[in-house]
Amino acid sequence: MRFLSRQNITLILGAFVIASCTPKKIELGKSSNQEVIAAMTLEEKAQVLVGNDPGFPRGYPSGFGGADTLFNTQPPVVGHTEKIVPGAAGTTYGVPRLGIPAIVLADGPAGVRIDPLRPDTAKTYYATAFPIETLLACSWDTATVRRVGECMGKEALEYGVDILLAPALNIHRNPLGGRNFEYYSEDPLISGEMAAAMVNGVQSMGVGTSIKHFAANNNETNRMSIDAKIDEKTLHETYLKGFEIAVKKSHPWTVMSAYNKINGVYCSENPVLLDSILRKSWGFDGLVMTDWFAGRDRIQQVIAGNDLLMPGSFYIAEKIVKAVRNGELDEKFVDRNVDRILDVIKKTPRFKKYAYSETPDLKAHAKIAEQIALEGMVLLKNEKGALPFTQKIKNIAAFGMGTYQTIAVGTGSGNVNRAYTISLNEGLLAQGYAIPKELEGIYEAHVESEKKRVGEKSSYFQPDIMLKEKEWSVNELNKYASSCDLGLFTISRTSGEFADRKIEDDFALTQEEQQMLKKLSRVFHAKNKKLIVVLNIGGVIETASWKNYADAILLVWQPGQEAGTAIAQILSGQVSPSGKLSMTFPNKYTDVPSATYFPDPANDPKEVAYTEGGYVGYKHYLAKGVKPSYEFGYGLSYTSFDAKDISIAHNKNGEVECDLTITNVGDFAGKEVVQVYVKDPQGLVKLKKFAKTRNLKVDESSVIKMTLTHDDLESYNAKQSKWEVIPGIYQVMIGNSSENIWLSKDIEL
Ligand code: BGC
Repeated sequence: MRFLSRQNITLILGAFVIASCTPKKIELGKSSNQEVIAAMTLEEKAQVLVGNDPGFPRGYPSGFGGADTLFNTQPPVVGHTEKIVPGAAGTTYGVPRLGIPAIVLADGPAGVRIDPLRPDTAKTYYATAFPIETLLACSWDTATVRRVGECMGKEALEYGVDILLAPALNIHRNPLGGRNFEYYSEDPLISGEMAAAMVNGVQSMGVGTSIKHFAANNNETNRMSIDAKIDEKTLHETYLKGFEIAVKKSHPWTVMSAYNKINGVYCSENPVLLDSILRKSWGFDGLVMTDWFAGRDRIQQVIAGNDLLMPGSFYIAEKIVKAVRNGELDEKFVDRNVDRILDVIKKTPRFKKYAYSETPDLKAHAKIAEQIALEGMVLLKNEKGALPFTQKIKNIAAFGMGTYQTIAVGTGSGNVNRAYTISLNEGLLAQGYAIPKELEGIYEAHVESEKKRVGEKSSYFQPDIMLKEKEWSVNELNKYASSCDLGLFTISRTSGEFADRKIEDDFALTQEEQQMLKKLSRVFHAKNKKLIVVLNIGGVIETASWKNYADAILLVWQPGQEAGTAIAQILSGQVSPSGKLSMTFPNKYTDVPSATYFPDPANDPKEVAYTEGGYVGYKHYLAKGVKPSYEFGYGLSYTSFDAKDISIAHNKNGEVECDLTITNVGDFAGKEVVQVYVKDPQGLVKLKKFAKTRNLKVDESSVIKMTLTHDDLESYNAKQSKWEVIPGIYQVMIGNSSENIWLSKDIEL
C-alpha cells in the first residue's frame, strides 16, 4: 500500500476546497429545472412566461389583446422571431446565460407558415401546402394523415421551427364557421383520431405540435371574448372529446387554449379546463400556451396553468413581476409554469442544437400532398357514369375562376406560403386534355379586373374578399358546347380567420353561379353532353337547389398545392374517389340545428348558446329525421362494393366485435370506408369506429374487424362528473354512411 505524503494530502485538500467554493455552473439540461429556476431572476422568469415578440411584425393593431394596451410601454420594435425564422408566429424568450434558447413556433394546419423570401438572400423558403384539414378528415385514412404529419414535421425541423401550431380540431358546429376548413369534422371521434395521427406524424420528427383551440372556438364572430354557453354533458361529449382522444393517443407537446369564454370564464384563465380536465383527468404533461393575445387577466392565466402567454410583450412580463412583488401572484405558479416550459424546450431541436438544412425535400412532400388529396376528395353525384371521362372526352369547356385559379388552402394563419399551386386547368392539360385557349385568357383578365374592383386587402386580418364569377351569354356558351366534348364548372370559396361566412353569396350560390349552372346545363344537355361541377371550397355550401343541373359533382375541397394534378387524376379515372363526408351537407341553411342562434356579427353578440346540445350535424339529422342533401359519411366511388358476412357480437371480454368482408364487385379498383354507429339508450347516434380498406382490385376482398370496447360506449354523466356505460339496449349499426346501414343489431349492456 502506498502512503500519501503530507505534501500530496495538502494538495488534494486544497483542490477540494477550491472545487466546493467555485459556484456550480447552472445550465438547462445539465442542471435540474429546479436549479435553473432558482438561478433565474424574477424578471427572467416572467419573460420566459410571455414569449418574445414585442411589436409583432405582422402589424397587430394596438389594444388587440383587449384590456391590455399592449404597446403602451414599449414602442413597437421588430420581433425577435424575424431574426430567427422570419414569418414564424413567434418565439419564446431565451436566457442564454443559463443555456435556455428561444424556441420557434410556427403555424399551421395545412403546412409550415413562414416567410418564403428574405431580404438578404436569393434563397427561398417555401413550404408544402397540403390540403386543408377538412379534406384530410374526408379521407378517413389515418395512416396517410400520419404521413402528412411526418412531412410537415420534417419541414418544420429543416426550417428551424420547434413547434408547429397545429393541428386545429374545433368542431364544425355550423357551416358558416369561418375556420371550418382548418378543422376536421362535425364529429369529435374523427377529429380526435385525425389529430392524433397528425400529432404522431409531426412529433416523430422530433418537433412539437400545439393542438388548438382548446376549446369550443367554433365561430370567428367576436371570437376574442364571446361566451360559449354549453352544458357539461355536451361540452365533454362533443367539444372536449376530440382533444381528449388526441391527448391520450398522441401526447402533444403543447396545447393552445382558445380565445373565447366557456360559461363565463376565458379558456385561457380556466383552471378547471387547463388543470383538472386536461392535466389531471387526461394526463397531459406538456405546456399550455394562449392563442395570440387571448384573454384579459394575465395573472389569472398564470394561476390557471396557461404556461406561456403568446406572442409576448414586455408589458405583460412587467405585469407579472409587479403582481409577484405586490403579493397578488404567488411565485410558485410562476415557477411551476417555467418548469413546464423548460421541459418542452429541452425536447426541441433548437435545444439539441440540431443543424437544420433549410432544404427540406419539397418534391417528396409534394407527392404526399397529392396522395392525401386523392384520398379526401368526395364524389357527391355521378349520374349515368358521367365520371370518369370516357375515351371520347378530349376537349373540355372549363368554366369558373376556380378552374384557372384553383384555391389551395384558406387564408389567415391557416394559409401556407407555397412555391406554386397547380390549377385544375394545368392538371387537365398535363393529362392530355385540351381546353379552348381563349377561355384561360378570358378568365385571367376577369380575375384581374375583379381584383381591381374589390381592391387590396387593408391588412392580414381581413379575410379575402370573394371575386364575382364571370357571366356568359347563352350564345357564347353554345359555341363552346358545340366545339367541346363536355362542360365543366368550378365553384370556389375562400374564408379564414377573423370572420365567419355569410349565407348570402357564400353558403348559398351567388346569382352569377346560379345563372351559370342553369345556362350550362341547358346548353350542354341540349347537345347531349355532360356537365361536371367541381367544388373547390373550404366549407359546406348549399347544394340541394342546383344539383339537378349537374351530371356529376366532385367535391375537391381546397386540395393544397397539387390541386390540379389530383383532381385531373380523379376526373380521368386513374384513381377512383374514396373520400366520405366528415360533415353533413344540409338541404337548406335553416335545417342546421344552430341556424337561428349561430352568432351574427350584425348583433355584436356577447354570448353564443349551444342550445342544440349534443345534436350537432348527423346526430341532429338522424334524430329529427331531417333529410340532408348529402349525409355524413357519404361519398360515391367509380366501383361498387359488396358487404358480406357481417356480424355484430359480444366477445368473451364483454366487448362488441364487428366483422365483415368487403368485396369490390364493380369495374374499377377502389377503396371503401366502413363505419360503425351506435345509438345509445338515450337515443343519440354516434360514430364509434371506422376503417378504410386498402385499394381493392376488381373482385378482391378485404376482411375488416373492429372492436367496441367499454370505453367506446361510455357517455358523460354530468351530475356525477364522470364517464359511464348506461345500462340498456344499444343499437349497433354498420354501413358506409350515416344513412346507408348494412346491418343493425341491438345489444344489451
Ligand atoms: C390563430 C392561431 C394561430 C396564431 C398564431 C391566431 O390568430 O387563432 O390559430 O396559431 O394566430 O399565428
